[in-house]
Amino acid sequence: MTDRKMLRVLAGERVDPPPVWIMRQAGRYLPEYRQLRTKAKDFMDFCYTPELATEAVLQPLRRFDLDAAILFSDILVIPDALGHRVWFVEGEGPRLDPLLDRESWTYGDPDQVVARLAPVYETVSRVRAAISDSTTLIGFAGGPWTVATYMIQGEGGDKDRCRRAAYARPADVDALLAVLVEATAQHLAAQVAAGADCLQIFESWSEGLPESLFERVIIRPTQALVARLKALGVTVPVIGFPRGAGALFGRYAQETGVAAVGVDTQTPAAFARREAPAGMALQGNLDPQLLICGGEALDAGVREVLAAFKGSPHIFNLGHGITPQAPPESLARVVELIRRGGD
Ligand code: CP3
Repeated sequence: MTDRKMLRVLAGERVDPPPVWIMRQAGRYLPEYRQLRTKAKDFMDFCYTPELATEAVLQPLRRFDLDAAILFSDILVIPDALGHRVWFVEGEGPRLDPLLDRESWTYGDPDQVVARLAPVYETVSRVRAAISDSTTLIGFAGGPWTVATYMIQGEGGDKDRCRRAAYARPADVDALLAVLVEATAQHLAAQVAAGADCLQIFESWSEGLPESLFERVIIRPTQALVARLKALGVTVPVIGFPRGAGALFGRYAQETGVAAVGVDTQTPAAFARREAPAGMALQGNLDPQLLICGGEALDAGVREVLAAFKGSPHIFNLGHGITPQAPPESLARVVELIRRGGD
């Protein structure tokens, strides 16, 4: 039996106090991250330099008693590897040339993705060699729809244009999703081959979809992705994070084939528990804003999350990524409280 607590919970065991990791635990809220970041010419270059990316993974583990490390990379390495160059506008976010500006939608070959992303797998194996045996290593990718939205409109922000494209150009959008499923499956399988213990699919833009469209662009592509991973011989657990799925959370948990589900900030734990298959591990869901507030409000929030998920397999996390404004001391406090069972 593994001594990796997070893997035991993913297998359905209740562990008290729960294991903890934090989405975006490597990032700009850490001064040492901001320092490290100056060594790369741009963010994508940072992701593709194993020496720097490995150091970024290890930074939060040195400060906090976390149960898991997460690969340092980005969900947008997939479009980049498919030949859709990605760049970041300081203070604004990612940019790509939008597919919406093109008459016909074409992509690079998904079979080329793994060769192009070799430095990412190099980072995975360096991290596995550097972390303790009891630390779980999480590999990740974006969900097909979330990555598609960046490719379709060339940026984050308002997704109305993507929904309209899904209705108006169904063949183009479905073909894009199919390419992303294949590329993402190969990318995740390569992370597992390099040493990842489990995987998370960040479907960060699951919100605002009517049920039939949710089924078409989220459930079916995720089912296909999980099935393709199995066909590629991947047996590690997959955590799905359908942020903003709301009333469709249960369909995601029941139908996609993921082993566990991440619960976002606004989804009540009791609702998630009722809607997910019995015994499925759930991850979440402290409000990231509480880390900026700190103090009594933060303590109360941690206790509330612990109590809400108590009695079922739970991995403590935030309901979305930690923000650059959060003081690192807040995260130290969160971990300390969890270790003491909330006391
Ligand atoms: O969690 C971790 O510590 C692992 C690394 C990780 C990053 N991005 C590093 C990163 C992970 C898991 C992601 C996922 C990701 N990337 C998502 C899904 C998760 C979510 O938050 O919903 C999305 C939508 C992206 C796309 C993306 N990349 C955005 C919107 C941004 C922020 C742009 C900005 O300037 O605010 C990025 C950049 C990014 N990815 C940063 C980090 C640490 C910050 C960029 C920097 O250092 O300059």
